[in-house]
Amino acid sequence: MDLEVLRRAPLFATLDDDVFSALIKELNEVDLSRGSSVFHEGDQGDQLYFIISGKIKLGRTTPDGRENLLAVLGPGEIFGEMALFNPAPRTATATAVSETRLAGLRHESLRNVITTNPEVSVQLLQALAKRLTRTNESLADLVFSDVPGRVAKALLDLADRFGRPAPDGVLVAHELTQEELAQLVGASRETVNKALAEFVQRGWLRLEARAVVILDIQRIRQRSR
Ligand code: CMP
Repeated sequence: MDLEVLRRAPLFATLDDDVFSALIKELNEVDLSRGSSVFHEGDQGDQLYFIISGKIKLGRTTPDGRENLLAVLGPGEIFGEMALFNPAPRTATATAVSETRLAGLRHESLRNVITTNPEVSVQLLQALAKRLTRTNESLADLVFSDVPGRVAKALLDLADRFGRPAPDGVLVAHELTQEELAQLVGASRETVNKALAEFVQRGWLRLEARAVVILDIQRIRQRSR
């Protein structure tokens, strides 16, 4: 297991070496291929997960089968922690969008660490506060922004977390299909395709398989406002 990713994760960065080493022994490794889920909305769960490599989408399905993505998470991020604070079934389905390696930790084990290392709970609260801020922003965008604006914003957010420099811009290997991108911005695939095509036609983007290259980040930023 690549322990470096975990050691650098904000949740663990402040732990003493011996506490970290003890915690590592309690982790269980989970490998997922694209499309496999680690748990489903409504399941009972007593573990949280750290992403070691790859990407996880968190999605909810309506009773009539439509899907909405809450988030796409990458290395160093955690999910599945909500039941630790609010014992209830899983609030979303967690599915790999690429080959993904996770480290699972039982809620009970984390609770023990928190008792002796209160800084860990501060880090968890910080992660939850950030998530709430992001969710509030998405809600405002759903009300106030048009679909191209939301697509531009989603691409910037993905670029912030997964972007790498490319010769002509920023390569964002988001691993999402256009359907999944549409589920992330809360619009139909057709409308999202149209927005992407318009960005391409203006020279702001290049589309690749499950990736984009942002050629003009300034324009994309302006369009996201
Ligand atoms: P849990 O409810 O145990 O399982 C689903 C997980 O999805 C949940 O814990 C959180 O870790 C994560 N999750 C739920 N809502 C959001 C959100 N809005 N943004 C990011 N992650 C979320």
